[in-house]
Amino acid sequence: MFTSKKDIVGIDVGSSAIKVVRLHESRGSYSLANIGIMPLDPETIVDNTIMDSTAIVDSIRNLLASMKIKTKRVATSVSGHSVIIRKISLPIMTDSELEASIQWEAEQYIPFDISEVNIDFQILGPDAKDPSQMNVMLVAAKKDFVGDYTSVFSEANLEPVVMDIDCFAVENMFDYNYGFVENEVVALIDLGASATSVNVLKGEASVFTRDIQTGGNLLSEELQKRLGISSIDAERAKLGDRNIADVDPDSIDEILADAVENLVQEVQRSLDFFSATSSEDRVAKVYLTGGVSNSSQVREALEEKLDISVERVDPFRNVTISDKEFDKEYLNAIGPMFSVAAGLAMRKVGDK
Ligand SMILES: Nc1ncnc2c1ncn2[C@@H]1O[C@H](COP(=O)(O)OP(=O)(O)OP(=O)(O)O)[C@@H](O)[C@H]1O
Ligand SMILES: [Mg+2]
Repeated sequence: MFTSKKDIVGIDVGSSAIKVVRLHESRGSYSLANIGIMPLDPETIVDNTIMDSTAIVDSIRNLLASMKIKTKRVATSVSGHSVIIRKISLPIMTDSELEASIQWEAEQYIPFDISEVNIDFQILGPDAKDPSQMNVMLVAAKKDFVGDYTSVFSEANLEPVVMDIDCFAVENMFDYNYGFVENEVVALIDLGASATSVNVLKGEASVFTRDIQTGGNLLSEELQKRLGISSIDAERAKLGDRNIADVDPDSIDEILADAVENLVQEVQRSLDFFSATSSEDRVAKVYLTGGVSNSSQVREALEEKLDISVERVDPFRNVTISDKEFDKEYLNAIGPMFSVAAGLAMRKVGDK
């Protein structure tokens, strides 16, 4: 096999694991070339901050070597509180006019010194309420934070050619596999290990985003704390194992039910906030990505609480998968964890 110049590999450095996806593209369709995952110690990334860069560099190196990936170009992403995504309203102007004034316009919306951030934007279109104004999606990320992520790739001898934001990568994956319906309002919710991101889309435009600093870890941490068990046993119990030494299975179920309710409540609060701030739009459907979307308990609790239909996303729904090379059942079971990595693998060099 040769690697073409366009070849790019999607690498999602999540707090629980590094996930890699490489796709082949042919006339606008994708097929799966490689997929791999390498778990990370919980202390490696805390609060989206890289605590142990050597562990990440080694994991990326080992994972790519085990997958026999030679591609050097990487699409990757960041998320968390060092990344600000805001929809703002500005007087109508062209893309290049905004390019020239964005630093100045953005200043009041960003809680960091403007010289400390990289800024990007996308003009969404005219403001429905005021035709002299337009809506703009503003994205700002702290330079030193992004720098920490890019340097692990250079240390691993790779070239990060696309630096994305987690929720936009998920959006990209969703577009290819499910497609946007004009004016339909849907919520893409990524339920990860340490964080949850909510992205409400109207048609193809993101109209509301929110990061919640809690995720699947909440469930295992509650089990660990309240049952006094090890983190490994807590993780097993969370994933369904009821044979934990000296632990009553019913108490696992009770604690999990409580913790799931708390997690679901956080998501509900975000969506309530969206409803309160958007005049007429109501979320018609929720699409779940991230590892926690594998939990039917979480899906059902969300569906009940929100009273909205909830679907677990398959990031390879429209991706061709060879039966000879991959175990489809396994891929389906782990799929949602690869939502960010799949969206990244669909990026092209030059995308921002
Ligand atoms: N069947 C399941 N039931 C409940 N939780 C699950 C299940 N499968 C995976 N998880 C949880 O999903 C999480 C991992 O998901 P994911 O890979 O999306 O997170 P991450 O990207 O590493 O984290 P983050 O985005 O928060 O940095 C872990 O907390 C794991 O325990
Ligand atoms: Mg993640």
